[in-house]
Amino acid sequence: MRSLQRGVLAGVSALALAGCATTGVASAPPPSSSASSTAVPIEPAQPSWAARDAEMDAFLDDLIGRMTLEEKVGQLTLLTSDWESTGPTIREGYQQDIAAGRVGSIFNAYTADYTRELQRMAVEGTRLKIPLLFGYDVIHGHRTIFPISLGEAASWDMDAVEKSARVSAAEASAEGIHWTFSPMVDVSRDARWGRVSEGAGEDVYLGSKVAKARVHGYQGDDLKAVDTVLATAKHFAAYGAAQAGRDYHTVDISERTLRDVYLPPFKAAVDEGVATFMTSFNEYDGVPASGSKFLLTDVLRDEWGFDGFVVTDYTSINEMVPHGYAKDLEQAGEQALNAGVDMDMQGAVFMENMVKSVEEGRVSQANIDRAVRRVLEMKYRLGLFEDPYRYADEARQEATLYKPEFLEAARDVARKSMVLLKNDGNVLPLAANAERIAVIGPLGDSKTDMIGSWSAAGDRETRPVTVLEGMKARAGNGVTVQYAKGASYEFGDKGKTDGFAEALALAKSSDVVVAVMGEKWDMTGEAASRTSLHLPGNQQALLEQLVATGKPVVLVMMSGRPNSITWANDNVPAILHAWYPGTQGGHAVADVLFGDYNPSGKLPITFPINVGQAPIHYDMKNTGRPIELGEPGAKYVSRYLNTPNDPLYRFGYGLSYTTFGYSPATLSASSMGPKGSITATATITNTGTRAGEEVVQLYVRDLVGSVTRPVQELKGFEKIALQPGESRTVSFTLRPEDLAFTRADMSHGWEPGEYRLWIAPSSGAKASTPVTFTLTE
Ligand code: BGC
Repeated sequence: MRSLQRGVLAGVSALALAGCATTGVASAPPPSSSASSTAVPIEPAQPSWAARDAEMDAFLDDLIGRMTLEEKVGQLTLLTSDWESTGPTIREGYQQDIAAGRVGSIFNAYTADYTRELQRMAVEGTRLKIPLLFGYDVIHGHRTIFPISLGEAASWDMDAVEKSARVSAAEASAEGIHWTFSPMVDVSRDARWGRVSEGAGEDVYLGSKVAKARVHGYQGDDLKAVDTVLATAKHFAAYGAAQAGRDYHTVDISERTLRDVYLPPFKAAVDEGVATFMTSFNEYDGVPASGSKFLLTDVLRDEWGFDGFVVTDYTSINEMVPHGYAKDLEQAGEQALNAGVDMDMQGAVFMENMVKSVEEGRVSQANIDRAVRRVLEMKYRLGLFEDPYRYADEARQEATLYKPEFLEAARDVARKSMVLLKNDGNVLPLAANAERIAVIGPLGDSKTDMIGSWSAAGDRETRPVTVLEGMKARAGNGVTVQYAKGASYEFGDKGKTDGFAEALALAKSSDVVVAVMGEKWDMTGEAASRTSLHLPGNQQALLEQLVATGKPVVLVMMSGRPNSITWANDNVPAILHAWYPGTQGGHAVADVLFGDYNPSGKLPITFPINVGQAPIHYDMKNTGRPIELGEPGAKYVSRYLNTPNDPLYRFGYGLSYTTFGYSPATLSASSMGPKGSITATATITNTGTRAGEEVVQLYVRDLVGSVTRPVQELKGFEKIALQPGESRTVSFTLRPEDLAFTRADMSHGWEPGEYRLWIAPSSGAKASTPVTFTLTE
C-alpha cells in the first residue's frame, strides 16, 4: 500500500501532535474535509529556514553551474577525521581528500583551531573554495554532559530537554561544529537493545514531544546564529524494532505499525523544521533503509514535504551488499542515490563510483544536482559562504565551554531525570541523624561511567562528579561518607567475592548503605545488546549480602536500559534510577538522596520483570483472550506460566517524597463531533508534607476500530508543582485528529465510536477511574 495520497495520509500531523493542548495552549483549527470526512489532511510544515531566498537560489544556480561532476560528488561525501570513529575506517587520508575537493563534509573533528585548519584546506586549496560542513555526535551534551537521552526523557520536562540541546549547541558550535547527529528519535520497546539509552523510550506521543524540544534546542529559531547547529532526525526508520533486540538485526513490522508507532517522532521533527535526516542500518520490508525509495522519497519528501538533506548512517550504503540487496558497491550507490540519499557517510561509495554511474546513465544528472543543492543550501543558510570560519572562534570557545550556568543546567536536568522506584518506610530522603553513610558498588566512585555512552567530547577522566564526591560535598559536618567498591560489573566476574568482606564491614559500621550499582557505561549504546537484564558481574550477590546486614539499603541504579531488578524490588527498601546522570551527576544524586530536590521523574519505558517479557510496552493490544477474562490461573488466556503479564514498573511510573491524590476525570461533554473538541479535567492534590512535582498523564482507549486498537495511549501530559495541601485543576483538550491512526484502508484519520479516557499518575490504568465519550460522525 505504497501509493498513498499526499493530503490524506500524514503519519501524525502537526495538528495531531500539537492539537492535544493542555489548558491555555491554542489548538490548531479543525481540518477541512478531504477524501474522507474523518481523514486528517497534511499540510507539509514549512520551517523558517526553508523560505525561498532568491539571492541564495541565484548564488547556487551559478555555483552548481560551474561545478564538475567530480566536485558535485565531493559535496555528497562525508568522511570521519582520524580523531574518533564508530565503525570500520574505510578511507585513510581524509586530509588529501579535502584538499582535492573529494569531500564536502567532515565529522569527528572539533575545536576551533582544528576545524579552522581543515576549513582552510577546503577554501584555500580547492578550485571552487566551497566550505566544509562539520558534523559530530553531540547527543546529550558536548563538553558539559547531561544525562543520557533516555534519562532526559524521564524528566517529562520539555524545557529541561530543550535546555540540554541548547547548551549542547552552544558548546559544540563554539568548537567549530555546524551539525549534530541528534536527536535519535527511534521509538524503542525492547530493553535488550542497547540503543534504548539514546532515544526517548517507548512512547509515540512523549517521543514526538521530546523530538520537537530537541530539534528546537539545537537549531533555535535561526540557523544562521553562530550558537545553533543543524539537527538530524535519526535513524530513519524503525531501527528500534530490531528482531530480538539485537543491534543491526532485521526489522519486519507491518506498514501500519511503522506509521502508527515508529514514524510519528520523525514527522514531529519535520514539523519542527529539522534540517537533516539520517538513514538507519536496518532493512524495512526487505529493503535496506538507505536504499528505500518508499521511506526516503515517498514518505519523507512526498508525504511530509521534507526540504533538508538526507545522510546515510555510517557505511550503510556499503552494507547493502552484505544485506544481499546490491551485487556490488557501484549498484549500492546507485540504489541509495536514486532512492533519495543525498550524502554518503564514510562509505566512500559515491566518491568512488558515482561519476561512472552518472556517465553510464544509471543515475541522472538531475538527481545529482538536486542532492548537491540540498547540501549547499545548508552551507549557505549557515552563512558559511560569507565566512567559512564563523564558527571556529577561539575566543568564543574559551568563553563558552563549561560555563558555570551550563554545569548548573546539567545538574538540574540530571536531578529532574531521576526516577524514584521504591521508598518503603521513607528511607529517603536520608535521615538527618544518618551520620555514617557507606557508598558501596562499582558505580559509586567511577568517573568514567557517569557520562554514559555517546558523550561526544565529554571528559570521562577528570570532570565528572561521582556519587561519592557528590555525597561528600553535600554531607554536613559530623557526617562521614566512606566508600568500598565491593563488587564488579564485568560479565566475567559473577562468581568473584574478593571485595565483599571490605564492603560488608563498611556497611555494618554505617547507619545507611547507598549501593550504587547497574551497568558499565558501554553496556548500552550502539552494538551493546544483551540477552539478560540482570545486574552484571557479582553485584546481585553483594546486594543480597548488604541487605542481610539489616542496615537500611538504598539502591541507586545507573544504567541506560530497563533492568530486571525484581529481587531488589522485593527486598531493598529504596530504589532510585539515576540513568547515567552526566558531568554533574554525583551532585544531582546527592541533591535527591538528601532531599534538597524532591524526585519528579517518571519512566519513559517499561521495566520488565524478566527478559522473557521483552518487548513489552504499555500500549499493547488486548488480544482475543485477555488475561482478565479468565479465572485466576486460567490456562487458555494470553499469559505466561511462570511470570505475570504486568511489568515490574510501568511506563509513566515514578514516586515522589510527597504523595498526590487524583479526583476522577470529568468531561466537558459526553460526545464530540468531527469539528469539535472535548476537555477532560481532574484535580490533583499534594496530599503529603513536602512540596513536589507531578507528571499528570492523559490516557485514551479507542474501544472498537476498523483495526484493533491499543488498550491505552498517552494523549497528553503536564508537569505541575504543588505545595503541601495545594490542589490544582489540570485540563486536556482533545480534538478528533488527536485520535487519528492508520485505519483498515491505510488512510490516516479518526473513526466515530466510543472512547474511554482517564487522567492518571502512570499507565497503571487499573487504578484510575475512566470516563467515556462518543465521537460522532
Ligand atoms: C551510528 C550513528 C552515528 C554515526 C556517526 C553510527 O554508527 O549509528 O548514530 O551518528 O555512527 O558517528
